[in-house]
Amino acid sequence: AAPLAPDLKTCGPPTLPAGAKPTKCCPPPSTTIKDFVFPQQNLPLKIRKPAQLVAKDSEYVAKYKEAIRLMKSLPEDDPRNFTQQANVHCAYCHNSYHQVGFPNLDLQVHFSWIFFPFHRWYLYFYERMLGSLINDPSFALPYWNWDSPDGMEIPAIFTERNSPLYNELRNANHQPPTLMDLNWNKKDVDSSGNVDANLAIMYRQVYEAKRARCFFGKPFRAGQEPYTVKVGSGTLELVPHNVVHSWTGDITQPNTENMGALYSAARDPIFYSHHANVDRMWSIWNSFNRKDIDDSDWLDSSFLFYDENKDLVRVKIRDCLDTKKLGYDFLEQPLPWINTKP
Ligand code: C2O
Repeated sequence: AAPLAPDLKTCGPPTLPAGAKPTKCCPPPSTTIKDFVFPQQNLPLKIRKPAQLVAKDSEYVAKYKEAIRLMKSLPEDDPRNFTQQANVHCAYCHNSYHQVGFPNLDLQVHFSWIFFPFHRWYLYFYERMLGSLINDPSFALPYWNWDSPDGMEIPAIFTERNSPLYNELRNANHQPPTLMDLNWNKKDVDSSGNVDANLAIMYRQVYEAKRARCFFGKPFRAGQEPYTVKVGSGTLELVPHNVVHSWTGDITQPNTENMGALYSAARDPIFYSHHANVDRMWSIWNSFNRKDIDDSDWLDSSFLFYDENKDLVRVKIRDCLDTKKLGYDFLEQPLPWINTKP
């Protein structure tokens, strides 16, 4: 076995679910690939804060909106364009990419141990693009704090119509102040007990997932057929990650677009705050003194992303294990689920 790598040269049309409008997901071509170099190490860390907290900081909200507005107004073929960024996700999860060395095998970034690191890298570049568009290298994404009672609804910054942060394809019954239901199974039920049930789920999926295999998911190495959802995913990817996606998407759409389908999820700006919290859960899990996977196939698996200078960069999982080396950290918040044994 060997580490995975996507082959840009053979990137092709995605295999989309029924009812999805045809779309091309591959990034613009590039003749050169740069190897990743760490950002300058002596800068102050960017601090990702909870979305319900930044809502009170009008200067921050204005910056964030402006950054997304600028991203949406870039030329269509600019790899930093908002739709191009959404397509990054589509390409990496609908069989557009094949594995280097195995042209008949697809690369899928869900349902296995590459789920956390892929999304960490994806947000890393997206956040830097936003910062560079507004000339603010300290810009950090907000996280959707769904593991805490005051974050268990769609954050207000995403619900203002006509804002660049708004997206219309969301579940109309799940607008604030409707409480999140981490047990949601396409049916709305009385939500009065949700907070406690959600906290118990967090405890089970993060705190009790003690072994790396359990938390990250199954190995996925070059030469292997991708897993499907139930088989390969780690605990947190299944719940709450998947549930928050489908709970947020518009249930009247064929595939619960946008958030409820892989190919369209990142068309909703809320996606990146959802994933900022997924990313934070990885850091929190590490803070319980649990060690990342020690397997060179995982550590040397690589992805390709465009950076804020429109250069195509090759990154390896081993370089994303420490968020501080990547220049960011999370504002610490209480973890009310730590003592909530189900
Ligand atoms: Cu790549 Cu939340 O999924």
